[in-house]
Amino acid sequence: MTPRATTRPPARPRPGGTPPVVGTVTRGTTNPNRLRRMDRWIAVTHGAELRRAADPVAVDLGYGAAPWTAVELLARLRAVAPRARVVGVEIEPARVAAARPYERDGLAFRHGGFEVPVERRPHLIRAANVLRQYDEDEVAAVWARLCARLAPADPAAGSRGGLLVEGTCDEIGRRHVWVALGPEGPRTVTFATRLGSLERPSDLAERLPKALIHRNVPGEPVHAFLRDFDRAWAAAAPYAAYGARQRWIRAVRDLTADWPVTDRQTRWRQGEVTVRWEALAPRG
Ligand SMILES: C[S@@+](CC[C@H](N)C(=O)[O-])C[C@H]1O[C@@H](n2cnc3c(N)ncnc32)[C@H](O)[C@@H]1O
Repeated sequence: MTPRATTRPPARPRPGGTPPVVGTVTRGTTNPNRLRRMDRWIAVTHGAELRRAADPVAVDLGYGAAPWTAVELLARLRAVAPRARVVGVEIEPARVAAARPYERDGLAFRHGGFEVPVERRPHLIRAANVLRQYDEDEVAAVWARLCARLAPADPAAGSRGGLLVEGTCDEIGRRHVWVALGPEGPRTVTFATRLGSLERPSDLAERLPKALIHRNVPGEPVHAFLRDFDRAWAAAAPYAAYGARQRWIRAVRDLTADWPVTDRQTRWRQGEVTVRWEALAPRG
């Protein structure tokens, strides 16, 4: 059975007036290159915001038992924003100690939780496979807390502010679903997969983020979306002769008739599709 975590601030604040650590230690499962799909999407969709910032700070929140995902995030962000820095934040102190030898220019590790113990408001918070071990009714409060920590929007400078990317994937990152949120709240949901491994789009259902996974039932928008995606995938079967990529592109193109898909074919080619959050948000 999956151990559940509870979001509750500890009774005692930390010394030196720093805020209390918020959250609970959970399993530390991670893998090298596991989050490549999410990293690439962040680099493409958020690279301009990171380049614009004078000191772009990204937080890899809950990086797990080894610091691989933080090391890789730094490399992928620096490819599009050379000034980017990454701070890995982990609630389990032994995991912070184990990561410290990997610190380098632009990469640091800190003990902490959802309070996000970094001095500046981050331009990116990435939380992958963290909320999955919490309860569904804790998600809204955690999102609100993390969004409040993001760098604010600056419309005069053309900035929409920082981005929170929160989602779930399988152990080797072939199937991934995440929600992207700005300082104002949820914006989009992205489905990303290795197309060769896919039997049908609803295979991704088991990797829905915590806010959606229990809502994949009749009557809920995410269930209708995956049902329509499976139908479009079935209708696009003749394109399988040209490869799974062409079939996916065709299926997503069909979906755009009924669903607010926000991205274009360049992303669909990668085995991705991004939909506005409002279309998939749970009812009630
Ligand atoms: C399953 S691991 C995910 C590791 C990595 N992000 C990945 O996707 O491969 C989840 C990690 O999140 C940490 N965690 C859980 N709640 C946290 C919180 N509130 N703040 C920081 N880390 C947290 C756990 O201690 C655990 O190491």
